[in-house]
Amino acid sequence: MTTVPYKTIAATGAKIPAIGFGTFGSDHISNAQMAQSVRMALQAGYRHIDCAGVYGNEKEIGEVLADAMAGRIEGGPKIARDELWITSKLWNDKHAKADVVPAFKKSLNDLGLEYLDLYLVHWPFPNYHPPKCDVDTRSPNARPYIHEEFMDTWRQLESLVDAGLVRHIGTSNMTKPKLELLLRDCRIRPSVQEMELHPHFQQQEFVQYVQEQGIVVVGYCPLGSPNRPERDRVPADTVDMEDPVLLRIAQAHGCHPAAVCLKWAAANGHIPIPLSTKERNIVSNLQAVCEDPLSDDEYRQLRLIDKNCRLIKGQVFLWEEADGWEDLWDLDGKIPCPPRYGQNSIS
Ligand SMILES: NC(=O)c1ccc[n+]([C@@H]2O[C@H](COP(=O)([O-])OP(=O)(O)OC[C@H]3O[C@@H](n4cnc5c(N)ncnc54)[C@H](OP(=O)(O)O)[C@@H]3O)[C@@H](O)[C@H]2O)c1
Repeated sequence: MTTVPYKTIAATGAKIPAIGFGTFGSDHISNAQMAQSVRMALQAGYRHIDCAGVYGNEKEIGEVLADAMAGRIEGGPKIARDELWITSKLWNDKHAKADVVPAFKKSLNDLGLEYLDLYLVHWPFPNYHPPKCDVDTRSPNARPYIHEEFMDTWRQLESLVDAGLVRHIGTSNMTKPKLELLLRDCRIRPSVQEMELHPHFQQQEFVQYVQEQGIVVVGYCPLGSPNRPERDRVPADTVDMEDPVLLRIAQAHGCHPAAVCLKWAAANGHIPIPLSTKERNIVSNLQAVCEDPLSDDEYRQLRLIDKNCRLIKGQVFLWEEADGWEDLWDLDGKIPCPPRYGQNSIS
């Protein structure tokens, strides 16, 4: 079993394992298979599990966590609750003030825990879409980011910290302008920002900003999500694990290109959360961040292969007046907000 390194959360001094295990099965990994994968991950030495209510598999994962804490995982030690870091996320259809705490408690109960280590707002939009819907579908009720509404949601997360039900709260899929507003107005700061990060999508400036705020960066799709469904692919998407620079570095280390993606994340101070259903990959991904780091020169070479290739574009969250998925990401530094929704003032 590999021993995982940790990062420290500035606000509380808590230790968060520097690699997590992803649990989004999309439409190709059953809940039972995901639970089995989490079991293998705990056996291998992972202690940080990235869950979400919308993934629909927290009950099955909860059963594995119960087994782990009771010492019932074959070949694995009995794991104390405080050795685990369990994250869950609030889905978009539960942003309303009255819905946040019940949604949190459902995740907590499904996971069979008395507290969570981290609860994230999954997306900064309260926009619901049916599972597996076409990416061009636009919900008539979809709204842009409205800061006052987001703060109402955030205050409910703060109340969960006050109640001792969650140790840390954080954001996911935020942009710099939105995070600036949150940091201006929150009572409890986000401890973590979870965002898409892989060698072809490095977001270097934003990552630097987030880290300067003392917020830990968790990187999702760290391998470039090679098995994501067809509906999440466009012809312009690039493939990290086929990049010639990355392949050359993998050859030099005698490892799989996936391991180079994870070493790159570790070198940047991100916490990657790769998913795998195969024991061999689960083990080698963990080893990738624990041993044989990149040299400075390799790191510099990988910084240059950024293709600004966002894979999870979020099209299904677009509101009526939005031009395209770029509107979700505030690329010009401004949060789009058509007049009928009011203002999002940064000043
Ligand atoms: N916050 C958000 O909005 C958000 C969005 C997306 C994802 N996430 C989180 O991030 C996690 C990871 O993202 P992801 O699952 O989309 O993508 P990923 O971790 O980049 O890629 C996972 C895929 O890579 C394959 N793989 C894993 N290790 C490998 C290895 N060593 N060699 C070759 N192939 C390997 C896996 O297939 P095998 O099973 O065959 O190994 C799996 O299908 C999710 O599970 C979820 O927890 C969060």
